[in-house]
Amino acid sequence: MTPYHLSHLLRWVFNCQIFHLTSNLYLCSGVLNLMLSYRHSFHAGNHADVLKHTVQSLIIESLKEKEKPFLYLDTHAGAGRYQLSGEYAERTGEYLEGVARVWQREDLPQELKVYMSAVAALNPSGNLRYYPGSPFIAQHLLRQNDKLNLTELHPSDFPLLRNEFSRDNRSRVVREDGYQQLKSQLPPQNRRGFILIDPSYELKSDYQMVVRGIQEGYKRFATGVYALWYPVVLRQQIKRLVKDLEATGIRRILQIELAVRPDSDQRGMTASGMIVINPPWKLEQQMKSVLPWLHQVLVPEGTGHTMVKWIAPE
Ligand SMILES: C[S@@+](CC[C@H](N)C(=O)[O-])C[C@H]1O[C@@H](n2cnc3c(N)ncnc32)[C@H](O)[C@@H]1O
Repeated sequence: MTPYHLSHLLRWVFNCQIFHLTSNLYLCSGVLNLMLSYRHSFHAGNHADVLKHTVQSLIIESLKEKEKPFLYLDTHAGAGRYQLSGEYAERTGEYLEGVARVWQREDLPQELKVYMSAVAALNPSGNLRYYPGSPFIAQHLLRQNDKLNLTELHPSDFPLLRNEFSRDNRSRVVREDGYQQLKSQLPPQNRRGFILIDPSYELKSDYQMVVRGIQEGYKRFATGVYALWYPVVLRQQIKRLVKDLEATGIRRILQIELAVRPDSDQRGMTASGMIVINPPWKLEQQMKSVLPWLHQVLVPEGTGHTMVKWIAPE
């Protein structure tokens, strides 16, 4: 074995140890590889992103109403931005039934304007070629004194994310376990924060990890705004997730959902949602007002549903 191979082997063993320590539920090699087969570039700009990023932008705008700076913590950040004309997005074409249906609509509701301003910032020519991921949307909207903390584990997406933010001195970008950040980075220094938790749910254990992560974060920082994204693939999994969240005893949990098809036990995502803890006071009304429009534009055939309801009120 050459010194080069030896150093790689040692680094791999070291990374495995770190990962094992920080996320003691996982066995390093096999599970990590399985987890990281997901690439968001295949799905960027789909209906689930439209819902997620609408909620994200409304929360950020509400937090900006107070002068005091805040931390934006993105536990599963992805690559930062995506090329819609690239081979990944083109292969699935999901954005054509998502952001492309909202882009440049003249009757755009007020609630979507800030989100769409982030999309427009990446597409100054007017042609929809790029899609902003959650880190880019936050970067676009945050102020000079706000801070970003972005974590991503994927070996290909992490360098893209790091390059994207290399000149942004408000940001910390690390290749670490996002769930671990909920313990190590909370509470934020100035006690204001928005935490986006957006896993790919490749592992069934993600449904439990998100609840445990929220509990860990909430224990340290009960006044933060937490937004958890979920896909509806099997409704039963979401019912369980909601039950587990109810059982934490945390109050002020709002659930927002947009379905493009009725629930089904076949494979495939029929709906997606955002579960928001400590939502800004306007969010419930904003989403109730914009969801019917969004649903009509994203799903012209009219299947599916929208929903805004409290899992746990005040
Ligand atoms: C749904 S994507 C994120 C999309 C991004 N939040 C957005 O809205 O643009 C989920 C990402 O989480 C990453 N990931 C999976 N497990 C992770 C973990 N434990 N910690 C950090 N990132 C993880 C995946 O590599 C993937 O890029």
